[in-house]
Amino acid sequence: MRQKVKQALYWISLVCCGLIVGYYIGSARFKETVQLEWEPKRHSGAISCTASWASRMNATEQQDQMSNSSVEHSSLKTESRVSTENPGNDVGNKTLETNQTEKPHGNFTQHETLTQNKTNDELQSIQAQETPRMLNFFVNGRKRFDFFPEPQPLETVQVEPVVDLLGKKQLPFRECIHLSVVACGGRIATADTLVTLKSAAILSHTCLVFHVFAEDNSQKSIKNELNNWPNKTRDRITFYIYPITYPSSEDQSEWKGILKPCSTQRIFIPELLPMVDTVLYVETDTLFINRIEDIWQYLTRFNSTQFAGMSPAHENPADGWYNRNARQPYYGKLGLDSGVMLLNLTRMREFKWSKRLVPIYRQYKDKIVRGNQDLINVALYFHSDTVFEIPCEWNYRFDHCDRGNTCLRMETEGIALLRGTKGKIHADGPFRAVHETYRDYQFGCSILEGLVQPLKERFKTMRLHTSCVKPIRESVLAILTKYT
Ligand SMILES: *[C@@H]1O[C@H](CO)[C@@H](O)[C@H](O)[C@H]1NC(C)=O
Ligand SMILES: *[C@@H]1O[C@H](CO)[C@@H](O)[C@H](O)[C@H]1NC(C)=O
Ligand SMILES: *[C@@H]1O[C@H](CO)[C@@H](O)[C@H](O)[C@H]1NC(C)=O
Ligand SMILES: *[C@@H]1O[C@H](CO)[C@@H](O)[C@H](O)[C@H]1NC(C)=O
Ligand SMILES: *[C@@H]1O[C@H](CO)[C@@H](O)[C@H](O)[C@H]1NC(C)=O
Ligand SMILES: *[C@@H]1O[C@H](CO)[C@@H](O)[C@H](O)[C@H]1NC(C)=O
Ligand SMILES: *[C@@H]1O[C@H](CO)[C@@H](O)[C@H](O)[C@H]1NC(C)=O
Ligand SMILES: *[C@@H]1O[C@H](CO)[C@@H](O)[C@H](O)[C@H]1NC(C)=O
Ligand SMILES: *[C@@H]1O[C@H](CO)[C@@H](O)[C@H](O)[C@H]1NC(C)=O
Repeated sequence: MRQKVKQALYWISLVCCGLIVGYYIGSARFKETVQLEWEPKRHSGAISCTASWASRMNATEQQDQMSNSSVEHSSLKTESRVSTENPGNDVGNKTLETNQTEKPHGNFTQHETLTQNKTNDELQSIQAQETPRMLNFFVNGRKRFDFFPEPQPLETVQVEPVVDLLGKKQLPFRECIHLSVVACGGRIATADTLVTLKSAAILSHTCLVFHVFAEDNSQKSIKNELNNWPNKTRDRITFYIYPITYPSSEDQSEWKGILKPCSTQRIFIPELLPMVDTVLYVETDTLFINRIEDIWQYLTRFNSTQFAGMSPAHENPADGWYNRNARQPYYGKLGLDSGVMLLNLTRMREFKWSKRLVPIYRQYKDKIVRGNQDLINVALYFHSDTVFEIPCEWNYRFDHCDRGNTCLRMETEGIALLRGTKGKIHADGPFRAVHETYRDYQFGCSILEGLVQPLKERFKTMRLHTSCVKPIRESVLAILTKYT
């Protein structure tokens, strides 16, 4: 009997010891994986999708602060963040003010003789005849007309194709989806670019070709980060990295400096990438919520003259910028947003896109306020048959929801692509929540564990009535849940 008790005690203590030792080994391992995440090579460590989205967030934040290997512009601190994001698409108060006493651009003499002493009906019929050369303005509250001859293509404009910095030969890859981004504006812009590319990669299943235009001092970190993605994802992705390049016939620094650094780079993509037939250009505040395959489908709906798939700059005339302030022609009723563009480059090259855009810049440079977007709108004003209007859920921005939802299709289709314009991507709120969720996603995790659950956690602390929180939370979670 005693023997049996002794034996039992012996086994019990053995099991206990084992448990204790096991616990310590286990917890040491756990600590190790957490620590791994603090190191730059985040993707090589063990993956923990559920355990610690919060600690991962802390870790990456710390890492951001600690690592200064890729810091380029030390001036790019928080206060200048907002203004350096989204080149080309946000406008400060100063530039929005229009000079009401200023005469509109164009041939004013012609306008005066044609429109003087006419009744409103007569004016309307003149306008109908003169479209697309004429545009109406409100000057001092009165309707005025102006004429805008389209400048002739400038044959002397020379755009040399870009060469990949990694020495890769450019291939057409017609079977793949081509995505192009421009990383310009230091460390923050580089990090944003990588999150945009990651959001495209996580959800898609097809082969992707990234065309990344990047400043000299961010090329290496982009290459390293993309190479760090796991083989399973890398196997279907080809990426090219190019220097920021403007036409050799033009003043490079002038073009680079228009409004926001490099925001006009996108204009020259057709001629810079002669091997590429079609590309989706997105600004680096973009986050894909639906699959990139779905926006690519719009290509099948282009007719034979269309080459530019873009969304309206606004949905509601009361919020419109162009209809109230523009001093130059613009596409359609409310203009187009140039932050997401599905472009048939073959047709744009046939159209002599770059040769047309340079003289437009020369003619309108004193009038434009929103940089590249204004130039593109001038060109497309004269050639509206080349535009395919992509609905607003594919370019959902702060101004769609800050005073109630104006993108009506969002209510049925959900948000397919989110853009953190006006610095929203780094400001407290729903845009930043989605951005950081993608940023912290570990390849290999399921959509549920890696995106949906962390996003729910991030939204928990946000008040629903704050502008944009509710629509973004509900729509993004619903769509991502669909992919789980
Ligand atoms: C993350 O940081 C916050 C404040 O900096 C802290 O309160 C929280 O406990 C941290 N979370 C983890 C899991 O370390
Ligand atoms: C960060 O940069 C500063 C100044 O260039 C340098 O003194 C410091 O050693 C760097 N820190 C790290 C962790 O690289
Ligand atoms: C812009 O103008 C509005 C109204 O005048 C004002 O409330 C807002 O603070 C201004 N914003 C900036 C950035 O100056
Ligand atoms: C408006 O334009 C007129 C004429 O070009 C100029 O004299 C005036 O200084 C301008 N006012 C402002 C506020 O820019
Ligand atoms: C403006 O239009 C008038 C009348 O059509 C024409 O005579 C004049 O040459 C034009 N001026 C310019 C600068 O185009
Ligand atoms: C417009 O009316 C004024 C005064 O009635 C007249 O002097 C002027 O010549 C008219 N202009 C045109 C283009 O008919
Ligand atoms: C990934 O691919 C590279 C090159 O093909 C190979 O050297 C490496 O071992 C692979 N890594 C894994 C984890 O399979
Ligand atoms: C782009 O346009 C060219 C020329 O019209 C056409 O051959 C090509 O198929 C188009 N690309 C796509 C993806 O539709
Ligand atoms: C293509 O669609 C645009 C916009 O609806 C239209 O203006 C254009 O005429 C169409 N082109 C052809 C060849 O049907």
